[in-house]
Amino acid sequence: MKIAIGCDHGGLEHKNAVAEHLRERGFEVDDFGIYEQKPVDYPDIAVKVTSAVTSGNDELGILICGTGIGMSIAANKVKGIRAAACSEHFSAKYTRMHNNSNVLCLGGRVIGVGTAVELADLFVDTSFEGGRHQRRIDKITEIENFKEN
Ligand code: RB5
Repeated sequence: MKIAIGCDHGGLEHKNAVAEHLRERGFEVDDFGIYEQKPVDYPDIAVKVTSAVTSGNDELGILICGTGIGMSIAANKVKGIRAAACSEHFSAKYTRMHNNSNVLCLGGRVIGVGTAVELADLFVDTSFEGGRHQRRIDKITEIENFKEN
């Protein structure tokens, strides 16, 4: 599985740790930055990571900012993206199982590096359950399509 990852200045340490951990586990990780501690605008990174996911180049994305919220708001503006801001294990697992989320958003100022790594593991290791949940996602897609009209 290929995973796209990116962060702003609120999540650099977490991003580097998660990327390194996933690579050690054998995943191919596309790192869209940032690569040094300097202020950037998180939507610019969200666009890069979500584009990698919607194009099919990467199966899942991980975005890290200070809260995880700005990244999730930006990512969810992109058609086909279901981004979830998570700070605990249950949500990171169930957003894959029930929402088929394809982008995990984490807050570098909310959780520690160790928790970020654990949540990333849960996210990439959990599969969508389908069934009744697919019907609900289809309804989200209908809303997404309606917005374009
Ligand atoms: C940057 O200071 C901060 O606003 C950003 O990382 C994020 O928390 C926004 O949601």
